[in-house]
Amino acid sequence: MSNSWLLKKYLSHLLKAKRGGHGVHSPFVFKLTENVFNTQQHFYAFEELSKLRKDLQQNETELEINDMGAGSQKLLGSKRKVKDIALHGISSQKQSELLFKLVNYLKSKVIIELGTSLGLTTLYLSFANTKSQIYTLEGSENLVKFSKTLFAKKQRTNITSVHGNFDQTLPQLLSKLSSFDLLYIDGNHTYEATLRYFKMALEKRTNGSVIIFDDIYWSKGMTQAWEEIKQNQNVTLSIDCFYFGMVFFREEQKQKEHFKIFI
Ligand SMILES: C[S@@+](CC[C@H](N)C(=O)[O-])C[C@H]1O[C@@H](n2cnc3c(N)ncnc32)[C@H](O)[C@@H]1O
Repeated sequence: MSNSWLLKKYLSHLLKAKRGGHGVHSPFVFKLTENVFNTQQHFYAFEELSKLRKDLQQNETELEINDMGAGSQKLLGSKRKVKDIALHGISSQKQSELLFKLVNYLKSKVIIELGTSLGLTTLYLSFANTKSQIYTLEGSENLVKFSKTLFAKKQRTNITSVHGNFDQTLPQLLSKLSSFDLLYIDGNHTYEATLRYFKMALEKRTNGSVIIFDDIYWSKGMTQAWEEIKQNQNVTLSIDCFYFGMVFFREEQKQKEHFKIFI
Protein backbone atom coordinates (compact mmCIF):
# COMPACT_ATOMS: atom_id res chain seq x y z
CA MET A 1 0.00 0.00 0.00
CA SER A 2 2.11 2.85 -1.30
CA ASN A 3 -0.26 5.77 -0.92
CA SER A 4 -0.77 7.42 2.46
CA TRP A 5 -4.49 8.19 1.91
CA LEU A 6 -5.13 4.52 1.15
CA LEU A 7 -3.18 3.41 4.22
CA LYS A 8 -5.04 5.83 6.51
CA LYS A 9 -8.39 4.65 5.16
CA TYR A 10 -7.35 0.99 5.49
CA LEU A 11 -6.49 1.43 9.17
CA SER A 12 -9.83 3.11 9.77
CA HIS A 13 -11.60 0.26 7.92
CA LEU A 14 -9.83 -2.32 10.11
CA LEU A 15 -11.24 -0.61 13.20
CA LYS A 16 -14.80 -0.02 11.98
CA ALA A 17 -15.67 -2.92 9.67
CA LYS A 18 -17.94 -5.72 10.84
CA ARG A 19 -16.51 -9.23 10.74
CA GLY A 20 -18.22 -12.53 9.97
CA GLY A 21 -21.71 -11.04 9.85
CA HIS A 22 -21.60 -9.99 13.54
CA GLY A 23 -23.88 -7.05 14.18
CA VAL A 24 -25.35 -7.12 10.67
CA HIS A 25 -29.09 -6.81 11.21
CA SER A 26 -30.21 -6.50 7.59
CA PRO A 27 -31.29 -10.01 6.44
CA PHE A 28 -30.22 -9.21 2.86
CA VAL A 29 -26.73 -8.13 3.91
CA PHE A 30 -26.45 -11.02 6.37
CA LYS A 31 -27.21 -13.49 3.56
CA LEU A 32 -24.71 -11.75 1.29
CA THR A 33 -22.11 -12.05 4.05
CA GLU A 34 -22.83 -15.77 4.43
CA ASN A 35 -23.12 -16.64 0.76
CA VAL A 36 -20.71 -14.24 -0.90
CA PHE A 37 -18.27 -12.51 1.44
CA ASN A 38 -17.47 -15.26 3.91
CA THR A 39 -18.31 -18.44 2.05
CA GLN A 40 -15.52 -20.98 1.67
CA GLN A 41 -17.36 -22.52 -1.25
CA HIS A 42 -14.90 -23.41 -3.96
CA PHE A 43 -15.78 -23.18 -7.60
CA TYR A 44 -14.21 -25.26 -10.35
CA ALA A 45 -13.46 -22.16 -12.48
CA PHE A 46 -11.26 -20.68 -9.71
CA GLU A 47 -8.45 -23.17 -10.35
CA GLU A 48 -8.45 -22.59 -14.09
CA LEU A 49 -8.52 -18.80 -13.75
CA SER A 50 -5.92 -18.74 -11.02
CA LYS A 51 -3.62 -20.72 -13.33
CA LEU A 52 -4.33 -18.24 -16.12
CA ARG A 53 -3.44 -15.36 -13.75
CA LYS A 54 -0.09 -17.01 -13.00
CA ASP A 55 0.58 -17.46 -16.73
CA LEU A 56 -0.24 -13.80 -17.40
CA GLN A 57 2.06 -12.78 -14.55
CA GLN A 58 4.91 -14.40 -16.46
CA ASN A 59 3.96 -13.21 -19.93
CA GLU A 60 6.72 -10.97 -21.34
CA THR A 61 4.66 -9.67 -24.30
CA GLU A 62 4.84 -5.91 -24.61
CA LEU A 63 1.71 -3.97 -25.51
CA GLU A 64 1.36 -0.36 -26.57
CA ILE A 65 -1.40 0.99 -24.30
CA ASN A 66 -3.56 4.00 -24.93
CA ASP A 67 -4.88 4.74 -21.42
CA MET A 68 -7.92 7.00 -21.66
CA GLY A 69 -8.41 7.21 -17.94
CA ALA A 70 -6.75 8.38 -14.75
CA GLY A 71 -3.87 5.95 -15.37
CA SER A 72 -2.13 3.84 -12.80
CA GLN A 73 -0.05 4.73 -9.76
CA LYS A 74 2.24 1.79 -10.55
CA LEU A 75 2.25 1.37 -14.33
CA LEU A 76 3.85 4.25 -16.14
CA GLY A 77 4.52 4.82 -19.83
CA SER A 78 2.55 3.62 -22.82
CA LYS A 79 4.51 0.39 -23.39
CA ARG A 80 3.60 -2.19 -20.79
CA LYS A 81 4.39 -5.85 -20.38
CA VAL A 82 1.46 -8.18 -19.91
CA LYS A 83 3.09 -9.51 -16.75
CA ASP A 84 3.26 -6.02 -15.21
CA ILE A 85 -0.39 -5.34 -16.02
CA ALA A 86 -1.33 -8.73 -14.55
CA LEU A 87 0.64 -7.99 -11.38
CA HIS A 88 -0.26 -4.34 -10.81
CA GLY A 89 -3.11 -3.21 -13.08
CA ILE A 90 -6.04 -5.57 -12.63
CA SER A 91 -8.34 -6.75 -9.86
CA SER A 92 -6.73 -9.18 -7.43
CA GLN A 93 -7.71 -12.83 -7.18
CA LYS A 94 -9.69 -12.05 -4.03
CA GLN A 95 -11.63 -9.30 -5.79
CA SER A 96 -12.29 -11.34 -8.94
CA GLU A 97 -13.48 -14.32 -6.90
CA LEU A 98 -15.75 -12.06 -4.87
CA LEU A 99 -17.32 -10.71 -8.07
CA PHE A 100 -17.77 -14.29 -9.29
CA LYS A 101 -19.57 -15.26 -6.08
CA LEU A 102 -21.73 -12.14 -6.22
CA VAL A 103 -22.84 -12.83 -9.81
CA ASN A 104 -23.43 -16.46 -8.95
CA TYR A 105 -25.51 -15.60 -5.86
CA LEU A 106 -27.50 -12.74 -7.38
CA LYS A 107 -27.85 -14.62 -10.70
CA SER A 108 -26.99 -11.41 -12.51
CA LYS A 109 -27.76 -11.68 -16.20
CA VAL A 110 -26.89 -8.36 -17.81
CA ILE A 111 -23.42 -7.39 -16.66
CA ILE A 112 -21.31 -4.39 -17.67
CA GLU A 113 -17.62 -4.04 -16.88
CA LEU A 114 -15.93 -0.66 -17.35
CA GLY A 115 -12.28 -1.51 -18.01
CA THR A 116 -11.46 -4.88 -19.60
CA SER A 117 -7.68 -4.65 -19.47
CA LEU A 118 -6.37 -8.21 -20.08
CA GLY A 119 -9.86 -9.65 -19.66
CA LEU A 120 -9.17 -11.78 -16.60
CA THR A 121 -11.97 -10.42 -14.41
CA THR A 122 -14.28 -10.53 -17.43
CA LEU A 123 -13.63 -14.27 -17.52
CA TYR A 124 -14.60 -14.62 -13.86
CA LEU A 125 -17.84 -12.76 -14.60
CA SER A 126 -18.45 -14.95 -17.63
CA PHE A 127 -17.87 -18.27 -15.82
CA ALA A 128 -19.99 -17.19 -12.85
CA ASN A 129 -23.25 -17.44 -14.76
CA THR A 130 -23.27 -18.96 -18.21
CA LYS A 131 -26.77 -17.53 -18.76
CA SER A 132 -25.43 -13.99 -18.44
CA GLN A 133 -24.39 -11.54 -21.12
CA ILE A 134 -21.28 -9.54 -20.30
CA TYR A 135 -20.46 -6.25 -21.98
CA THR A 136 -16.88 -5.27 -21.30
CA LEU A 137 -15.72 -1.79 -22.29
CA GLU A 138 -12.11 -0.83 -23.00
CA GLY A 139 -10.37 2.15 -24.60
CA SER A 140 -7.04 0.62 -25.51
CA GLU A 141 -7.22 -1.21 -28.84
CA ASN A 142 -4.36 -3.60 -28.04
CA LEU A 143 -6.01 -4.65 -24.79
CA VAL A 144 -9.26 -5.30 -26.63
CA LYS A 145 -7.36 -7.52 -29.09
CA PHE A 146 -5.45 -9.30 -26.31
CA SER A 147 -8.55 -9.96 -24.21
CA LYS A 148 -10.57 -11.17 -27.20
CA THR A 149 -7.91 -13.81 -27.84
CA LEU A 150 -8.24 -14.99 -24.23
CA PHE A 151 -12.04 -15.11 -24.48
CA ALA A 152 -11.80 -17.22 -27.64
CA LYS A 153 -9.23 -19.57 -26.03
CA LYS A 154 -11.60 -20.09 -23.12
CA GLN A 155 -14.51 -20.56 -25.55
CA ARG A 156 -16.62 -17.84 -23.98
CA THR A 157 -19.72 -17.03 -25.95
CA ASN A 158 -21.35 -14.68 -23.46
CA ILE A 159 -18.88 -11.78 -23.71
CA THR A 160 -19.22 -8.74 -25.97
CA SER A 161 -16.13 -6.50 -26.18
CA VAL A 162 -16.75 -2.83 -26.82
CA HIS A 163 -13.84 -0.64 -27.91
CA GLY A 164 -13.79 3.11 -27.22
CA ASN A 165 -13.89 5.77 -24.54
CA PHE A 166 -16.41 5.02 -21.75
CA ASP A 167 -17.76 8.53 -22.22
CA GLN A 168 -19.14 7.42 -25.59
CA THR A 169 -19.43 3.64 -25.27
CA LEU A 170 -21.28 3.56 -21.94
CA PRO A 171 -24.19 5.83 -22.99
CA GLN A 172 -24.36 4.04 -26.37
CA LEU A 173 -24.56 0.65 -24.69
CA LEU A 174 -27.06 1.79 -22.06
CA SER A 175 -29.33 3.22 -24.77
CA LYS A 176 -29.56 -0.29 -26.29
CA LEU A 177 -30.27 -2.09 -23.00
CA SER A 178 -33.58 -2.04 -21.19
CA SER A 179 -31.75 -2.52 -17.85
CA PHE A 180 -28.63 -3.98 -16.28
CA ASP A 181 -28.16 -6.25 -13.27
CA LEU A 182 -24.55 -5.63 -12.34
CA LEU A 183 -22.19 -2.83 -13.31
CA TYR A 184 -18.53 -3.01 -12.31
CA ILE A 185 -16.75 0.34 -12.62
CA ASP A 186 -13.04 -0.46 -12.79
CA GLY A 187 -11.47 2.27 -14.91
CA ASN A 188 -10.91 6.02 -15.02
CA HIS A 189 -10.75 6.46 -11.26
CA THR A 190 -11.43 10.17 -10.95
CA TYR A 191 -14.10 11.97 -8.95
CA GLU A 192 -15.80 13.45 -12.03
CA ALA A 193 -15.73 10.34 -14.21
CA THR A 194 -16.97 8.05 -11.42
CA LEU A 195 -19.96 10.26 -10.70
CA ARG A 196 -20.63 10.72 -14.42
CA TYR A 197 -20.76 6.94 -15.08
CA PHE A 198 -22.88 6.36 -11.97
CA LYS A 199 -25.42 8.98 -13.05
CA MET A 200 -25.56 7.60 -16.61
CA ALA A 201 -26.24 4.11 -15.28
CA LEU A 202 -28.96 5.18 -12.83
CA GLU A 203 -31.55 5.44 -15.61
CA LYS A 204 -31.21 1.75 -16.44
CA ARG A 205 -31.11 0.37 -12.91
CA THR A 206 -33.79 -1.93 -11.55
CA ASN A 207 -34.76 -2.82 -8.01
CA GLY A 208 -32.27 -5.70 -8.15
CA SER A 209 -29.32 -3.90 -9.76
CA VAL A 210 -25.97 -3.46 -8.06
CA ILE A 211 -23.16 -1.10 -8.97
CA ILE A 212 -19.67 -1.92 -7.76
CA PHE A 213 -16.91 0.66 -7.61
CA ASP A 214 -13.30 -0.41 -7.50
CA ASP A 215 -10.67 1.59 -5.63
CA ILE A 216 -12.94 3.88 -3.61
CA TYR A 217 -9.96 4.83 -1.41
CA TRP A 218 -7.45 5.21 -4.24
CA SER A 219 -7.51 8.99 -3.86
CA LYS A 220 -9.38 11.71 -1.98
CA GLY A 221 -11.40 12.35 -5.14
CA MET A 222 -12.53 8.73 -5.35
CA THR A 223 -13.51 8.70 -1.68
CA GLN A 224 -15.46 11.94 -2.20
CA ALA A 225 -17.25 10.38 -5.19
CA TRP A 226 -18.09 7.30 -3.08
CA GLU A 227 -19.51 9.46 -0.26
CA GLU A 228 -21.74 11.36 -2.73
CA ILE A 229 -22.91 8.16 -4.42
CA LYS A 230 -23.93 6.72 -1.02
CA GLN A 231 -26.03 9.81 -0.40
CA ASN A 232 -27.82 9.63 -3.77
CA GLN A 233 -31.58 9.41 -3.14
CA ASN A 234 -31.96 6.24 -5.24
CA VAL A 235 -29.39 4.31 -3.23
CA THR A 236 -31.01 2.42 -0.37
CA LEU A 237 -28.06 0.32 0.77
CA SER A 238 -24.30 0.58 0.51
CA ILE A 239 -21.61 -1.94 1.40
CA ASP A 240 -18.02 -0.85 1.79
CA CYS A 241 -15.55 -3.74 1.67
CA PHE A 242 -12.62 -1.33 1.35
CA TYR A 243 -11.46 -2.81 -1.98
CA PHE A 244 -14.93 -2.28 -3.40
CA GLY A 245 -17.90 -0.11 -2.66
CA MET A 246 -21.28 -1.53 -3.70
CA VAL A 247 -24.63 0.22 -3.92
CA PHE A 248 -28.10 -1.32 -4.13
CA PHE A 249 -31.47 0.21 -4.95
CA ARG A 250 -33.78 -2.29 -3.24
CA GLU A 251 -37.08 -0.74 -2.28
CA GLU A 252 -37.61 -3.45 0.36
CA GLN A 253 -34.89 -1.58 2.23
CA LYS A 254 -37.10 1.12 3.74
CA GLN A 255 -34.42 2.98 5.64
CA LYS A 256 -31.11 3.77 3.97
CA GLU A 257 -28.26 1.81 5.53
CA HIS A 258 -24.49 1.82 5.08
CA PHE A 259 -22.32 -1.12 6.04
CA LYS A 260 -18.58 -1.56 6.33
CA ILE A 261 -17.61 -5.20 6.08
CA PHE A 262 -14.24 -6.81 6.58
CA ILE A 263 -13.45 -9.39 3.93
C1 LIG B 1 -7.96 -1.37 -13.79
S1 LIG B 1 -8.03 -1.73 -15.47
C2 LIG B 1 -9.33 -2.90 -15.58
C3 LIG B 1 -8.99 -4.21 -14.96
C4 LIG B 1 -10.00 -5.32 -15.23
N1 LIG B 1 -11.33 -4.95 -14.84
C5 LIG B 1 -9.60 -6.56 -14.45
O1 LIG B 1 -9.79 -6.59 -13.22
O2 LIG B 1 -9.07 -7.51 -15.05
C6 LIG B 1 -8.77 -0.27 -16.12
C7 LIG B 1 -8.89 -0.27 -17.64
O3 LIG B 1 -9.77 0.79 -18.00
C8 LIG B 1 -9.33 1.36 -19.21
N2 LIG B 1 -9.84 2.75 -19.25
C9 LIG B 1 -9.59 3.73 -18.34
N3 LIG B 1 -10.26 4.86 -18.65
C10 LIG B 1 -10.96 4.59 -19.78
C11 LIG B 1 -11.87 5.35 -20.57
N4 LIG B 1 -12.18 6.61 -20.26
N5 LIG B 1 -12.44 4.75 -21.64
C12 LIG B 1 -12.12 3.46 -21.95
N6 LIG B 1 -11.25 2.69 -21.24
C13 LIG B 1 -10.69 3.24 -20.16
C14 LIG B 1 -7.81 1.28 -19.16
O4 LIG B 1 -7.28 1.23 -20.47
C15 LIG B 1 -7.58 -0.01 -18.37
O5 LIG B 1 -7.32 -1.09 -19.23
